[in-house]
Amino acid sequence: MSTASENAHETTVTDPYFQSLFAERIGGANYGKGTEIYKFEKIKRAKRNAMAAHPDRKLLDFGIGENDSMADESVRNVMAAEINRVENRGYADNGVIEYKQAAARFMKRHFGVELNPATQINHCIGSKPAYAMLPACFINPGDITMMTVPGYPVAGTHTRYYGGEVYRLPLLAENDFLPDLDSVPEDIYRRTKMLVINYPNSPTGKTAPPEFFEKVVALAKEKQFIVVHDAAHIMLTFDGKPRSFLETPGALDVGVEAHSMSKGYDMIGWRMGFVCGHERIVSAFADVKDNSDSGQFIATQKAAAAALDDDSIPERINAKYRRRMQKLVETLRECGFQCEMPGGSYFLYVKSPSGTKSGESFAAAEDATRYLIEQFGIVTVPWDDAGSFLRFSVTYVAPTLAEEDALMAETKQRLGDAGLVW
Ligand SMILES: Cc1ncc(COP(=O)(O)O)c(C=O)c1O
Repeated sequence: MSTASENAHETTVTDPYFQSLFAERIGGANYGKGTEIYKFEKIKRAKRNAMAAHPDRKLLDFGIGENDSMADESVRNVMAAEINRVENRGYADNGVIEYKQAAARFMKRHFGVELNPATQINHCIGSKPAYAMLPACFINPGDITMMTVPGYPVAGTHTRYYGGEVYRLPLLAENDFLPDLDSVPEDIYRRTKMLVINYPNSPTGKTAPPEFFEKVVALAKEKQFIVVHDAAHIMLTFDGKPRSFLETPGALDVGVEAHSMSKGYDMIGWRMGFVCGHERIVSAFADVKDNSDSGQFIATQKAAAAALDDDSIPERINAKYRRRMQKLVETLRECGFQCEMPGGSYFLYVKSPSGTKSGESFAAAEDATRYLIEQFGIVTVPWDDAGSFLRFSVTYVAPTLAEEDALMAETKQRLGDAGLVW
């Protein structure tokens, strides 16, 4: 590794004096000088081009990955009341018992999983920071985290920050978007400390059958790694009852599950979630968290507890996104896409077209995305990690059923005009 003085000559007059001090994990002396343009920035640029070229054409935005509604009124009312209570003013540290108890009731009611709220549950400020902190509990330099790809990358990024490595498990259509755990070489298993899985999966929308979770539990015990299950989309399950990894016999011996208030409760910006499962892992997580933040505002925790106790909230949100998903599947099928209702999540993951009847050809999903945005004002998110796919999200803004239907009609019209081929 180079030292600050060795790097000093690489800085330019416009660089701050500390340019050579940046840590290697974020690019070292080259930090801030990268020329790579990230996927979401490319989408933003294509949207800007499209709007400049066609100011009167409405963008049909299926790229947004955030709930389009505010949290339920009842939850906002609890928040409004709790905000005025003096006892909620201070540091929350690792969280108030009221939220942990509500989380325990939620886990029991929905999944039949019995957890001790005092020792097996800890809140987090949204589940994203939990994925940033869990590697700190396990990863030493050279250790491996196995992650499914495409997927939510945060645990992998932090694994690398700690000097660990990420072993990528591709989610392929031919394996029904489940990772092929039998293909992992023995020397990788020997160095693996964590496996991160996510069902209902983002972005593929697949749910995991119980046998897959059983296999994961057996492998974790045999190969001696821990399992982190990302349950962010669990209340948006469409193909049956939502299934927790912790329902699997033996799962409580091998791992934890992270839940989020964001998707299933329309509470994205509120930043609340919880990690639950094996007591020792929850306690390690709570220790790292205690050294990283001082807890979510207690009023927010109490409002989130009220939300967890009201099953009608996720039922309504599930029904809305299920309805929108059914309409989208029907519309895309009429336009030549091969797709079916996903098992869950508000994402539809479809094979990307290879070109158009008019002779356009797309080498990657990213090209198809740019073309659809710039030529037809249709925004999707490309995934080229394991095959070429487009992700359509049903979180578009359309407050009434009539607006939803009008949006679908317009989508059908424009996709028809695009003349896509596969
Ligand atoms: C698969 C998945 N996991 C976790 C998260 C993090 O959610 P939050 O931090 O809002 O709980 C997201 C958010 O986009 C996600 O898509």
